[in-house]
Amino acid sequence: SKKAFIFDLDGVIVDTARYHFLAWQKIAAELGIEFTPEHNEELKGVSRIRSLDIILKLGNIQASEENKNKWLKQKNEDYLAYIENMDESEILPGVVNILEFIKEKNQLIGLGSASKNARPILEKVKILHLFDAIVDGNDVTNAKPDPEVFIRAAKLLNATNENSMVFEDSVAGIQAANIANMTSIGIGDERILHEAKYNFKDFTFMDTSFIEAFID
Ligand code: G6P
Ligand code: MG
Repeated sequence: SKKAFIFDLDGVIVDTARYHFLAWQKIAAELGIEFTPEHNEELKGVSRIRSLDIILKLGNIQASEENKNKWLKQKNEDYLAYIENMDESEILPGVVNILEFIKEKNQLIGLGSASKNARPILEKVKILHLFDAIVDGNDVTNAKPDPEVFIRAAKLLNATNENSMVFEDSVAGIQAANIANMTSIGIGDERILHEAKYNFKDFTFMDTSFIEAFID
């Protein structure tokens, strides 16, 4: 049977992780909270609302629902401004090569992202048509490391969890894939993503033979 290759979006397919960081950093700065790239690792793969809670906790700030909603709205508006003019040039190196190889081999491609902005981003960078199933932040209730997003994607693709491979740049996402018994692939710093079954700095370090080995 066919194998499912499930991709996270932000920081795996496109370099939007830095836009999320910049937008959160602006909110944190306004609140007088120090927010470093190290802190940001904890936010990767995490839903918008949980991200804000983590930042507020960092600053020991208790906020009203009203203020929280205001900051969530502001964060997304800033983020949308960053991604407004995105195009194919912002697809991370080696990604299209791997996606096209999976297609050539007649296997399945899924998206498993916490982002509510996933579809418009895939459209902007013109690779939406390559996906056989998309599960994003509009579809799931439980945020990574809960495996819901990947389990739903595998179901839509008619693949078992064991026949699914997940590409992730976040600790929470690797944990989610592992909990679901999927093959977890860390894309990024292997010291941070050490729970992954395999690690690659980016997709240019992944040979198509690695994908082929999972298919056979
Ligand atoms: C991804 C990113 C997170 C982001 C989340 C929600 O998982 O890694 O940084 O907070 O999606 O994204 P959204 O676009 O809905 O705010
Ligand atoms: Mg990510």
